[in-house]
Amino acid sequence: MTLTKRRRTLALLFCAVTFTTFLFNYTFRDPSSYLYKYTFRLSASSKGPCACRHCVTERDEDDVWFTERFNLSVHPLMTRDNSALSDDTFKWWQWLQAESHPANFSEVVDELFQVIPDEVLYMDAGPERCRTCAVVGNSGNLKGSQYGGLIDSSHFIIRMNQAPTAGFEEDVGARTTHHVLYPESATDLDNATNLVLVPFKTLDLQWIVSALTTGTVKYTYVPVMNRIKANKDKVLIYNPTFFKYVYESWLEGHGRYPSTGFLSLMLAVHICDEVNVFGFGADQDGNWHHYWEDNLLAGAFRHTGVHDGDFEYNVTQLLADKQKIRMFKGR
Ligand SMILES: *[C@@H]1O[C@H](CO)[C@@H](O)[C@H](O)[C@H]1NC(C)=O
Ligand SMILES: *[C@@H]1O[C@H](CO)[C@@H](O)[C@H](O)[C@H]1NC(C)=O
Ligand SMILES: *[C@@H]1O[C@H](CO)[C@@H](O)[C@H](O)[C@H]1NC(C)=O
Ligand SMILES: *[C@@H]1O[C@H](CO)[C@@H](O)[C@H](O)[C@H]1NC(C)=O
Repeated sequence: MTLTKRRRTLALLFCAVTFTTFLFNYTFRDPSSYLYKYTFRLSASSKGPCACRHCVTERDEDDVWFTERFNLSVHPLMTRDNSALSDDTFKWWQWLQAESHPANFSEVVDELFQVIPDEVLYMDAGPERCRTCAVVGNSGNLKGSQYGGLIDSSHFIIRMNQAPTAGFEEDVGARTTHHVLYPESATDLDNATNLVLVPFKTLDLQWIVSALTTGTVKYTYVPVMNRIKANKDKVLIYNPTFFKYVYESWLEGHGRYPSTGFLSLMLAVHICDEVNVFGFGADQDGNWHHYWEDNLLAGAFRHTGVHDGDFEYNVTQLLADKQKIRMFKGR
C-alpha cells in the first residue's frame, strides 16, 4: 500500500467511525431527532405528541368530535391548588348523592392533604413519553380470555371497585397500579397500588382520612369499611371538577352520573399515551355479570338507573373507532 492509499483508508475509517458515532448519538441520545422517532415509534411521522406508536393526543384536525370534547387542562386528580370548586361544580357534586349536612369542604380538604400527598402527577405528556395503560373492567367477558400477560405488560393497570385478581391471573393479570373505588365499593389493596378515590360527597373525603387513620367513619348511606388496607402515600383523589367535565363533555349529561368504569377510562385517556381497554361490555351471550361471579342474576348491573350504559358504551366504541383507545372484547 502506498502512503496515499493508506491515508485514504484511514481517512475513510475515521469517517465511518465518526458517522457511526454521530448516528448513534443522533439516534439514541436525542429523542427529538427524526431517527429516534423513526426507530422507536416505528412510524415515519416525526411530529408525534408522544413516543408510542399511537398517541391518544394525536391531533387529527378533522376529528371535530374528539377535539370538541378532549380538554387536557382539566386536572383529573385533586391537589390543594386545584381543590377549590366553583359554585356550579360544588352544587352539582353535592346533588349527586344529596348529602344533607356536609362538613366544611375546604376544611376537610385541608385535613385530607395532611394525611395524603399533595402532588401534581402524570401531567408530563410530551414527545418523549410513552405510557401504556390497561383499563380493566369487571365484565364476565374476561373469563377464559387469557389477557393476563397482555394486561400485566402495561405501565399502568387500572382496576375498579371490588375487582379481585387472585385466582383470575391468567385472564385479568396480577398487577394493579391504580384501583379506583368509592367508600361503598372499597376493598383492601396492597402496598404498591395507588388507591384512586372517587368522591361523591364531602363525607367520602372524611371517610378516606378516617379509614387510613382513626376508623371513626363507619356509615355513609350504608355501612362502609371503617379501615382500609392501603398505602396512604399512594392515595389519589378523583377531582370533582374533572368528574363534572366527564359528565358534561363526554356523556353530554346522559344518566345521573358516569359509572366507575367510564370514569376510569376517562382518567386513562387523560393521563396515558396509549389506552387498552379490557372487560367492558357484555359477554358473548349478552350477559352482564362480574368475571368473579358465576351467578348471572346476582351480577345483573347494567340498568342501575343512575348510569346510561348504552350512551357510555357508544362513546367508548367511538373512541375505539377513532383509534384513540383499543378495545379487547374477550369472549
Ligand atoms: C378547558 O378547560 C379549561 C379549564 O377548565 C377551560 O378554561 C377551557 O375553556 C377549556 N377549553 C375548552 C376548549 O373547552
Ligand atoms: C369553611 O371554613 C373556612 C375556613 O375555616 C371558612 O373561611 C369558610 O367560610 C367556611 N365555609 C363555610 C361555607 O362555612
Ligand atoms: C409500604 O410502602 C411505604 C412507602 O410508600 C413504606 O414506607 C412501608 O414500609 C410499606 N409497608 C409495607 C407493609 O410494605
Ligand atoms: C348508540 O349508538 C347506536 C348506533 O349508532 C344508536 O342506535 C343508539 O341510539 C345509541 N344509543 C345512545 C344511548 O345514544
